[in-house]
Amino acid sequence: MSITILGIESSCDDTSAAIIRDGILLSNVIAGQKVHEEYGGVVPELASRAHQQNIVPVVDTAIKRAGITKHDIDAIAFTRGPGLLGSLLVGTSFAKGLALGLNIPIVDVNHLHGHVLSHFIRREETDVVPEYPFICLLISGGNSQIILVKSYNDMEVLGQTIDDAAGEAFDKCAKVMGLPYPGGPHIDRLASEGDPLRFKFSKPHIPGLDYSFSGLKTSFLYTLRDAKKLDPDFVEHNKADLAASLQRTIIEILLEKLRKAVDLTGVSQIAIGGGVSANSGVRQAIADYCSQRGLQAFIPERLFTTDNAAMVAIAGYYKFLDNQFCDLDATPYARVSI
Ligand code: KG4
Repeated sequence: MSITILGIESSCDDTSAAIIRDGILLSNVIAGQKVHEEYGGVVPELASRAHQQNIVPVVDTAIKRAGITKHDIDAIAFTRGPGLLGSLLVGTSFAKGLALGLNIPIVDVNHLHGHVLSHFIRREETDVVPEYPFICLLISGGNSQIILVKSYNDMEVLGQTIDDAAGEAFDKCAKVMGLPYPGGPHIDRLASEGDPLRFKFSKPHIPGLDYSFSGLKTSFLYTLRDAKKLDPDFVEHNKADLAASLQRTIIEILLEKLRKAVDLTGVSQIAIGGGVSANSGVRQAIADYCSQRGLQAFIPERLFTTDNAAMVAIAGYYKFLDNQFCDLDATPYARVSI
């Protein structure tokens, strides 16, 4: 008997729905929200209103694109947290309502588990997925974590940021360069044309496997402030080199702890996930490191690096197989760890 899961993601500013049947992706629809652009960041109240407008057409389109009807769905998986409460409420309430109407169970998904498990989304039967245990470097706007993934629901955080996340380092430095929000993709684009060794920024000296990015941010800020005193157009003249040097430093910080984690655990497979794993430099650095060390690298399709319901559906699929359903009185949570 085949199992069909509808996944719903609404934790931040993307409304997404996906259909997965027996682990194979049939559709994945994402509606972004342009309304936040003029504010330089996500406005929670506007996000939940946009989710309310988007959710019905997004789910409807996902079902149609998958070539199924709503009666073929066996369970609905939804992101329960972490995220913006108002946004999460839209997805959670919709999942409950539809599940009640169809008389099928619901499965709650930890958004962070979704990012890690996005490597198990298959487009074809033959697609290769990681084997447990493996390490996942989860890097996004809100997280920078090295996770030892022992099974679909057993994940141990070996190290994490003690201040800013890697994505925040990209975004905050990009902001002082006058780039639009979120700055990460702009830094990525500019970095490809710059000299990564031109500028030196400070790197943290944190023991163990934890990360810190706030010192780098401060050192970047001071470099710009001092240089602008001599040349008011310093940023404009040195954009690409600044971006390339910043990106190199972030990658070096990420890799240093990842190497340590691999040495400590002896795992042979490395996966990356979260918005920052879309970064070209990060992807290349992980691929190079893994090939040098004879490790297997899992680099996600860019589509699966940012928020999407396919990862929620696959996480829900594994919980479904394990009969891990959730009650209809489940409420979303803004904060939760892995
Ligand atoms: O996982 P995600 O979509 O959601 C949050 O956790 O917020 O990650 C968003 C983060 C932002 O900081 C964004 O600048 C960063 O991912 N990002 C990138 C790139 N694409 C997205 N950072 C560097 N290079 C990129 N290409």
